[in-house]
Amino acid sequence: MKGIIFTEFLSLVETAFGEDMVDSVLDTADLPSGGAFTSVGNYPCEELIEMVTVLSNMSGIDGEKLQEDFGAWMMDMFEREYPGFFEGKTTSFELLEAVDREIHVEVQKLYPDAELPRFETERTAPDALKMVYKSPRPLEHFCKGLIRASVENFDESASINRCPNTSGTTDVTFNITLEPKAINCD
Ligand code: HEM
Repeated sequence: MKGIIFTEFLSLVETAFGEDMVDSVLDTADLPSGGAFTSVGNYPCEELIEMVTVLSNMSGIDGEKLQEDFGAWMMDMFEREYPGFFEGKTTSFELLEAVDREIHVEVQKLYPDAELPRFETERTAPDALKMVYKSPRPLEHFCKGLIRASVENFDESASINRCPNTSGTTDVTFNITLEPKAINCD
């Protein structure tokens, strides 16, 4: 997994909890790489999961929520660092449909060693998108955070529901349904 994921995770920890928490997480987590992450390196996904678990124990915040918030943080980073991928996209569904077809294809060309998930998407109604996440890595909550931020960053509102897994695989299906935005009184 690309080092930028690890360095971004640590900057989220620093922003949300402070520099001391970064040191505590790095000291406590069992990190075979040693924890001196650089954005150009590659590290095992297990080390990210380990740091999330340690942060969850130290902060008392649910690990799934931490993973989801980190996904949203990464989306904001992608928008800053890769604005070209967002050009011409006018809705969250257009962006989400482009991840597998276009965005991750380009990411793989830029970084041939990137380990990317696959997605299948289907519009099941004009306001509903089914998105199937396929990855050997257990990052479904991270994925949900990326979806959530995609919706919010287009100033839309949606419910994002995970469907029960009946396929016997590690695939995770999300049903994303747009909701009317609340209208202010004034
Ligand atoms: C729009 C700009 C985007 C860029 C530039 C981008 C780029 C990347 C990069 C560089 C990685 C790390 C690969 C590695 O560590 O080897 C990654 C992983 C990932 N991306 Fe994207 N991505 C984007 C959007 C999205 C969106 C919208 C979603 C969700 C629907 C998504 C889902 C994921 C997931 C879940 C992973 C973790 C790897 C896995 O679960 O197998 N990405 N992406």
